[in-house]
Amino acid sequence: MSLAAAYDPMLIPEQPPVESADFKHSMRFLAGAVSVVTLGQGRDRTGFTATSVSSLSADHPSILVSLNRASSSWPILQRYRRFCVNVLADDQQAVADNFAGRGGVKGADRYEGAAWETLASGSLGLVGALTVLDCELEEAIERHSHSILIGSVRAITTRAEAQPLLYWHGGYRHLSNQTA
Ligand SMILES: Cc1cc2nc3c(=O)[nH]c(=O)nc-3n(C[C@H](O)[C@H](O)[C@H](O)COP(=O)(O)O)c2cc1C
Repeated sequence: MSLAAAYDPMLIPEQPPVESADFKHSMRFLAGAVSVVTLGQGRDRTGFTATSVSSLSADHPSILVSLNRASSSWPILQRYRRFCVNVLADDQQAVADNFAGRGGVKGADRYEGAAWETLASGSLGLVGALTVLDCELEEAIERHSHSILIGSVRAITTRAEAQPLLYWHGGYRHLSNQTA
């Protein structure tokens, strides 16, 4: 029998669906960098904490973020079509808590207690973040409960000397300085 025949996709049995609870448990093992995504202007300013940020392409500098469409950020993003990804340093956990809505903090109040600078796009960049990516929304692909945001990066600032804030197993983590 040829290899092609051995891997005929028609012969692969249908698999039962994965339980949502099992998937959530599995994702607890995925360590992630913590970012806050800032968006909107004036009284519309809001944003959210995200671990779903990843690089899409350096060829056309662009990133991906997954945003729950039930979030208060979704209608604002659709209106302004701009967002800014602020990758947090390990001393910025309080900013992560604010933008996750902990303690019921909403909208523009999420920006209180931290220093911000206004970027060319009108979004606010977090002073002291590891890197700040000012983006134009290239596309929002609606899939299941979330939208996959493709951000075209228009401006970048970095602060190389700090350590990242991480999230793993339901809690914030810090890098130990050991190398492999
Ligand atoms: C560590 C962490 C990571 C998160 N990552 C995401 C994410 O990638 N996408 C998302 O839509 N929400 C994410 N959330 C949840 C949002 O930050 C939170 O639901 C939102 O800020 C509050 O929604 P609201 O604006 O409707 O109050 C994350 C929360 C935490 C604490």
